[in-house]
Amino acid sequence: MKILSGTSNLKLSKEISKKLKLKLVNTNIKRFSDGEIYVEINENIRGNSIFVIQSTSNPANDNLMELLLCIDALRRSSAKNITAVIPYYGYARQDRKVVPRTSISAKVVANLITNAGASRVVTVDLHAGQIQGFFDMPVDNLFTTPLFARYIKKKLKNKKLICVSPDVGGVQRTRGLATKIKADLAIIDKRRPKPGQSKVMNIIGNVRGKTCIIVDDIIDSGGTIVNAVEALKKNGAIDVYVFITHAVLSGDAVNKIKKSKIKKLIITDTIDNSVKIKNNNKIEVLSISSLMAEAIKRISNSTSVSDLFN
Ligand code: R5P
Repeated sequence: MKILSGTSNLKLSKEISKKLKLKLVNTNIKRFSDGEIYVEINENIRGNSIFVIQSTSNPANDNLMELLLCIDALRRSSAKNITAVIPYYGYARQDRKVVPRTSISAKVVANLITNAGASRVVTVDLHAGQIQGFFDMPVDNLFTTPLFARYIKKKLKNKKLICVSPDVGGVQRTRGLATKIKADLAIIDKRRPKPGQSKVMNIIGNVRGKTCIIVDDIIDSGGTIVNAVEALKKNGAIDVYVFITHAVLSGDAVNKIKKSKIKKLIITDTIDNSVKIKNNNKIEVLSISSLMAEAIKRISNSTSVSDLFN
């Protein structure tokens, strides 16, 4: 087994490889002056099982192309099998036709990864579980719920907690966490008048006098979360902690969070935000490197991955 890293989140790849006591495959990934990507593998990988780690985060198109070229280079170098490890699977939010005559980008990306030569995918908190069916190969979707639950049990014990889903689509994920930490559940009825804009209509559940735990897969512009926090506070919540797997943090999201009434934003490192959130004491990062390393080890040894979450 060998680990190869793309350039989107080298920090995470290094942590995973350290935990697995493996060196990253020696590669040369560079950009030509016109922006085209060049991938070269500098060691023999014939007959090896290779795990390629690459988040398709911003710049999504470049990082996706880099992943495809890494997979292609591995296939042409006679790797035995290739697992695409995609901590953050970009384009996942376009997983169906919401209005007529639109593309289903999550499926297009799945086709590209398949055709490049991957034989398995490992990812974290897919925006919608059914994206697994866009692939005709095994997809291991890892969950951050145990990681978040551990943090909450350690740092927020003795508080009257309620888990809040920021929209109807996130109820299953939020219920999972609420069950694990034995807390109540509330749901926000969110509407999107336009892409990129969100509005809180109602809060289903009683948050008065409670510490709220919002859990979501993605924070992008920050609009969903900032509006949700505002509404929860107006409805009598004491504090609001926010747990997000994929911190896309586009535009002035970091600034919005700073100015908001969020008590703390807890994110993971599926996307490397070390520069964006430097010296920001409102945002804390939990690493998923141990979870990913353990999943890779189990896949390689053909033992159960789902046992990690039981
Ligand atoms: C939507 O369904 C996702 O789970 C997130 O709630 C959404 O992507 C967050 O976007 P933003 O931060 O731009 O409101």
